[in-house]
Amino acid sequence: MVKICCIGAGYVGGPTMAVIALKCPKIEVVVVDISVPRITAWNSDQLPIYEPGLDDVVKQCRGKNLFFSTDVETHVREADIVFVSVNTPTKTRGLGAGKAADLTYWESAARMIADVSKSDKIVVEKSTVPVKTAEAIEKILTHNSKGINFQILSNPEFLAEGTAIEDLFKPDRVLIGGRETPGGQKAIQALKDVYAHWVPEANIITTNLWSAELSKLAANAFLAQRISSVNAMSALCEATGANVSQVAYAVGKDSRIGPRFLNASVGFGGSCFQKDILNLVYICECNGLPEVAEYWKQVIKINDYQKSRFVNRVVASMFNTVSNKKVAILGFAFKKDTGDTRETPAIDVCKGLLGDKAKLSIYDPQVQEDQIQRDLAMKQFDWDHPLHLQPMSPTTMKQQVTVTWDAYAATKDAHAVCILTEWDEFKTLDYQKIYDNMQKPAFLFDGRNVVDADKLREIGFIVYSIGKPLDAWL
Ligand code: UDX
Ligand code: UDX
Ligand code: ADP
Repeated sequence: MVKICCIGAGYVGGPTMAVIALKCPKIEVVVVDISVPRITAWNSDQLPIYEPGLDDVVKQCRGKNLFFSTDVETHVREADIVFVSVNTPTKTRGLGAGKAADLTYWESAARMIADVSKSDKIVVEKSTVPVKTAEAIEKILTHNSKGINFQILSNPEFLAEGTAIEDLFKPDRVLIGGRETPGGQKAIQALKDVYAHWVPEANIITTNLWSAELSKLAANAFLAQRISSVNAMSALCEATGANVSQVAYAVGKDSRIGPRFLNASVGFGGSCFQKDILNLVYICECNGLPEVAEYWKQVIKINDYQKSRFVNRVVASMFNTVSNKKVAILGFAFKKDTGDTRETPAIDVCKGLLGDKAKLSIYDPQVQEDQIQRDLAMKQFDWDHPLHLQPMSPTTMKQQVTVTWDAYAATKDAHAVCILTEWDEFKTLDYQKIYDNMQKPAFLFDGRNVVDADKLREIGFIVYSIGKPLDAWL
């Protein structure tokens, strides 16, 4: 029986291992983490992450061939294949601060693997890491190996949050990078055999280590670039009276471009896009390619611009001030069907409005109050000008921010509603009721183009939709 151990029970490690366990009943999968509360949650009925379909998969396998444990060392020692799926945040200090990936967690995981291992292992890089990390990890492992053979593979994960289980069941591709030596090829085959339980062979791509690592960064950069491209168009549409949905539809019909991932929005968020692009920028700079670095930086600059453009639109429309006005924020997660708020555009938009002294009333179906408070109080790291911005004081927070568990409570007596996440439930709210309970004129700023603006205008709202012809008022 093959034994798999995954270090890191997060958004990537947890769902990925649960699906491997489900699809490979003969493989024992143990997910380990140093965080006791995380592992306790994985072993409870209240999983630490919200992901449609995940509960079902975990319930089917947990206790049979899927286990969650804090006993990191024992399970790593016993495993044949060790996945490493620890966090790799952007460095906030020292060399490369603001751009380079912080590999502290990775390095400590690698040293621990070398330390505890008593048998040969395949070590699989699962978290997104800079190109050539595998080489660094290989050095740590082989220089501390005590005669044990370690094979390093890069197997980047392409799942998107909110659709993780679907994506894992039917991946567009599985990518495995490894050394071009006989040992490397054998390791690639062993990992291929795991995925071959449910992924068609044609969809399992094998490459060298660097190509696999770079492909992940490139894929995220291309995806983010599409959103910045359509968002840049949205500004031009507003200025000229075109409709960005019509433009995106027409553009997407070109089979060379394709229709997906062209929704204009208040900006992209999530733990990957910005981090991976910054990483790419840093790698380019380190390799003497400032023009290439500058090219990719623009993707993030447009994203920042889109968020501040939204805030400016809100404030400008409301007679140039939101001071002491209640503004309802619908949606705080970085996208629908997740409770994840990492890099969510809502943080920047809320901070922008708070900077103008608005009173915010926030509702998100999956994000807890303490998370929102933490996010808004967090020291923000400005990637472009590496200095720490002042966090919001607890008193200001108390005076200016409330979190509700209902969209109607959030919007009651509000001057404006801002939709920042495309939750399905925001499409079917009773907007007449919301309008009746708001201050007039009642503004609605749709940062995700989810509402039917014409219907809302009939009710009496002044509506702003990203990239759509502007209401005469705005
Ligand atoms: C992304 C990649 O899609 C995935 O392949 C990779 O493994 C991790 O990073 P994720 O960040 O989970 O996944 O979600 P994704 O669906 O890509 O959305 C990212 C952000 O872009 C969200 O804030 C989303 O709202 C925004 N977005 C997406 C748009 O604004 N418009 C779109 O058309 C699509
Ligand atoms: C382009 C558009 O494709 C077409 O829809 C529009 O009507 C006119 O402009 P065209 O310029 O004739 O058509 O050829 P296209 O195949 O798009 O190639 C344009 C240039 O891009 C060529 O120099 C081509 O060699 C180059 N190219 C194209 C690449 O370098 N790499 C590619 O992957 C594709
Ligand atoms: P991702 O979105 O990439 O999955 P997360 O932050 O959700 O990232 O998860 C990473 C997990 O890795 C966290 O739960 C963290 O506690 C865990 N982790 C980090 N370093 C180690 C380590 N050395 N040993 C075990 N777990 C670790």
